[in-house]
Amino acid sequence: MIEIKDINQDPSMELFSSKGDVDPKLRTFLEEASSMLCKWLANANKNGPLPELFDFHAPLPLNKGVSRDCILNDIHMIMDNAYQPSSPGAIAHLDPPPLTASIVGDLISAGLNNNLLAEELSPSLSLLEEQLCKWIANKLGMNSESTGVAVSGGSISNLMGLVLARNKANLSYEKDVAIISSSDAHVSIEKSTKIMGLPPTSLFKVSTNSMGELSLSDLEHQINRVKYKGLKCMAIVATAGTTVSGSVDPLVEISKICALNGIWLHIDAAIGGVFGLSDSTRSLVDGLKYANSVTINPQKILGIAKTSSILLVSKGQDLSNCFSTGYPYLSESSNCAFNGGEMTIQGSRSAEILKLWLGLRQLGEEGISSILENCITRRIYLEKKLRNDIFKIIRGPLHIISFRPANFNEEQTELWSLKTKQELLKKKFMLSRPFHNGKYYLKAVLGNPYTTFEHLDHLSNILNSSVDSFLNE
Ligand SMILES: Cc1ncc(COP(=O)(O)O)c(C=O)c1O
Repeated sequence: MIEIKDINQDPSMELFSSKGDVDPKLRTFLEEASSMLCKWLANANKNGPLPELFDFHAPLPLNKGVSRDCILNDIHMIMDNAYQPSSPGAIAHLDPPPLTASIVGDLISAGLNNNLLAEELSPSLSLLEEQLCKWIANKLGMNSESTGVAVSGGSISNLMGLVLARNKANLSYEKDVAIISSSDAHVSIEKSTKIMGLPPTSLFKVSTNSMGELSLSDLEHQINRVKYKGLKCMAIVATAGTTVSGSVDPLVEISKICALNGIWLHIDAAIGGVFGLSDSTRSLVDGLKYANSVTINPQKILGIAKTSSILLVSKGQDLSNCFSTGYPYLSESSNCAFNGGEMTIQGSRSAEILKLWLGLRQLGEEGISSILENCITRRIYLEKKLRNDIFKIIRGPLHIISFRPANFNEEQTELWSLKTKQELLKKKFMLSRPFHNGKYYLKAVLGNPYTTFEHLDHLSNILNSSVDSFLNE
């Protein structure tokens, strides 16, 4: 039973920001927490990407709430045991350090606590989302009817693109359907088929060429196989920037095949999409503008704090046609053009658009170009430094490079990659270890702005001698 108490005496009120004057307790709390964060970021040069001594055990909520000092201690413990993306050697994955404006954007978004579900809960931010998505679509060369929504990560964007495709083809209630993607497409495509209730046999995988790009002749072959099996193809998924090699499928040619066969083209440009924002790199992802839907993840390269993904669609109306249910508990907006909840899988959404907008404003078009060009420059530099007589290197035109000793068998490659990854960690470099076409590789993603040529010299020296050291053991 709940006893009726005087709610004005609620001690937890103190934990919310006070009204009237600026709350001195909130201000000090923010200052202290920010100062800890700044120190943690500043230490990134000294520390490697992973904590040297991992010592973490989460204290759970107690009967009584804890003090501010205790909370600051909790934060400290998380920081001491956290992954450090700002360490110059953090080049394993697509998780670059955050831009300062993007950090501020996330903080402000939490403070505003608006909800992108509906315009009435986020008047300025809903409009911002619409306008920024259109700006991005326009930069990629998409038509004026294009729009988009921010969703929490590329996997959700890809899922939404495929659900849209199915809805558009009137296949939502059919089981005899197919999706075609390359064998190097991201696992989120397979995950999407599971979520959509499709059997594994609905995913047709197209082989790739030596550059990791989808083979056009095999694409034609797979389209015919789908037809032969009496299935209806709801979408072809092309990838602009594959996860292991950063390869870009031949988007223009694929778009022509889609148009000829009346099939929806979804481009997973979670990695490569942002290269379409700059005049100097747009040609590397030529053809994005022909997509019916495109996934783009600014979190992966541009220093936008996670999560930041956008699904763009060439016909804005398709989004609400597919996802709108009406929300009986919301009042109808006066100009209800942008109720996000009617356009996405998600209902309530935080204002992820804020940190993206502030980050892009802070960078400007020059800053965007410079980040993208520098990423690619680092990849080219590392590639030149790696001995191509001992390594088999796979890479596309972007900032990702994977490699393994050319003459090692599966077992040797597995052991070499494991051992070298561990050796590198001791020297404050973190590379990832993808399993690709039956063999382990080491992969470097050169999107960290703190990684200098000197770091890459050091890294390549270690890598170049790793093969002989392995054999001599
Ligand atoms: C090509 C590609 N698409 C989609 C995704 C999924 O993005 P997220 O991790 O934001 O869900 C990834 C993740 O690395 C990816 O590499």
